[in-house]
Amino acid sequence: VEPIKIAVIGDGGVGKSACTIRFVKNQFHEQYDPTIEQTYSTTVETEEFGSLPVEIIDTAGQDDYENFRSVSISYGQAFLLVFAITSHKTFEKMESMLVEAKEDAPKIVIGNKSDLSADRKVSVAEVEAWCKERGFKYFETSAKNNINVREAFVDLVQQAAKK
Ligand code: GTP
Ligand code: MG
Repeated sequence: VEPIKIAVIGDGGVGKSACTIRFVKNQFHEQYDPTIEQTYSTTVETEEFGSLPVEIIDTAGQDDYENFRSVSISYGQAFLLVFAITSHKTFEKMESMLVEAKEDAPKIVIGNKSDLSADRKVSVAEVEAWCKERGFKYFETSAKNNINVREAFVDLVQQAAKK
């Protein structure tokens, strides 16, 4: 069986790698190491479809690596759009990154760093309105505290498997 290819996209530093590493390895690293491109293979257990092979493409958020980013986005069949709830700029950035993603592919939105909610710059209402307009589900996650990360990935895999 061909793996389902998930591309994780979003601005630099929002926690794309942290969410991916939390999901694949159940680890978290405090230090920031910008990604160029990294691919992970795993399997996901779903109620409906059993065990499914999944490939996760962790893309570059930093604009220095824009060319790498475009190539890695083109591999995706399903997309995790990630921003950080502590930065409104990263929420706004999703709009332009969405343009590069395959149009009719399943997509979900992650507002990461929910453990830093004292420093919240994006309201839940604002994201939910944005998601509703586009038909995306919204998950608030903390890769650091392991909140909701698995739920988000599994939901996306299930949507992709149904396609
Ligand atoms: P690029 O690869 O440059 O696009 O960045 P990225 O989106 O992959 O961000 P990365 O996962 O490297 O995380 C950036 C920084 O945020 C790191 O210092 C992480 O430790 C931190 N971080 C990631 N997720 C969380 C989280 O849920 N909570 C907190 N408090 N910090 C986080
Ligand atoms: Mg990264």
